[in-house]
Order: sequence, then C-alpha cells, then structure tokens
Amino acid sequence: MKKIIAFAGSNSSTSINVQLVKYASSLIEQAEVEFLDLRDYDAPIYSADIEKVGIPQPIKNLVSKLAEGDAYIIGSPEHNGSLTAFMKNTIDWASRVEAKFLGGKPVLLLSTSGGKRGAASSLEDLNNKMKYFAGEVAATFSLGSFYDTFDKEKGVITNEEEKQIIAEAIVQFEKAL
Ligand SMILES: Cc1cc2nc3c(=O)[nH]c(=O)nc-3n(C[C@H](O)[C@H](O)[C@H](O)COP(=O)(O)O)c2cc1C
Repeated sequence: MKKIIAFAGSNSSTSINVQLVKYASSLIEQAEVEFLDLRDYDAPIYSADIEKVGIPQPIKNLVSKLAEGDAYIIGSPEHNGSLTAFMKNTIDWASRVEAKFLGGKPVLLLSTSGGKRGAASSLEDLNNKMKYFAGEVAATFSLGSFYDTFDKEKGVITNEEEKQIIAEAIVQFEKAL
C-alpha cells in the first residue's frame, strides 16, 4: 500500500491547519497516512554559519522521513499573507539536504484560517514554491472561516458545501497516487 506523509507548517500545539490536515487524512482510502508533527523537526533560523558546522540533525531526519512517502498532504497556515516563518525555515533547511526533496511526487495542498479566505494567500505562496522542491500539486483546498465551518471536538468540516469541495480535491489527489 502506498504511503502518504501529512504535515502542516505550524509550530502551534493547537494548530487549526493540523486539524484540517488530519481531517483530510481521514478521507484517504487508497493509501496509509503518516502524520508528522513538524515541531519534532524544529531547527534554528537558517544560517550559513550554522550550516558550515552541520545541517541540524532534526532536518536530516525530516528529509529521510519525507523520502519514505509516495505523496504528501501539506497544510500551510498564513502569517501576513504568506507561509509562516516556521514553514519557510523548515523548507529552506530541507532544501540544503536535498534540493528536490519532494521527489516529483503528488501533493495535496491545504490551508485554513479564521478569515473568509482561509489562508488562500499562503496556499498560493506555497504552491508557487513547489517547483523548487519538485512537488507535483494534484489538488488544493482552502477552508475559510474555520471556526464556523469546522467542529474542533469532532475534527470534521461541518459546512456541507466545503465538505463536497474537499471530497473532490481528495478524489483528484488519489487519482494522482
Ligand atoms: C503574525 C500573524 C499573522 C497572521 N496573518 C494572517 C493572515 O495574513 N491571514 C490570515 O488569514 N490569518 C492570519 N493570521 C491568523 C492565523 O491564520 C491563525 O493564527 C491561525 O490559527 C494560524 O494557523 P495554525 O493554527 O495552523 O498555526 C496571522 C496570525 C499571526 C500570529
């Protein structure tokens, strides 16, 4: 069975993007999904000086882990209209281990926020960067107004229209597996 690696670019213990990623993962039928908590792969802000001493071990571990995947589900929270500094730092470091660290494999990109646009700018930002890391974007989905459209207790989208849209994104993603 194929393996999907799922994670979100948040270092918050209450990340809403992690919740969306886990919900999307629960809809996958044709592969097993392993969730990575990116906080387990934390690294200092990229510095050429640190790199000269050595790439941080957690980043090496992350790149090895990612190589085990056949596809990826990536959630991208938004800070001031772009991906988070935490996410950017993680991918900058990862690219120093292996430039094309997503290996040309299929990616489902997700984002959410409390705002109506659901962190769509962050998703677009990450989508534009996928060419650097050889991520093949198969589908995207942004969930707007998270606190009105998602039940945090049950871990599910409650808005019927959004449920339909993410289900279609999952179909596209699974076709690419
Ligand atoms: C510094 C900062 C900037 C933010 N900028 C945006 C933004 O541009 N657009 C947006 O929709 N939400 C923005 N937010 C709100 C985040 O979407 C919200 O904190 C969300 O919970 C982050 O995702 P996470 O919980 O998965 O970490 C911002 C939050 C912070 C702390």
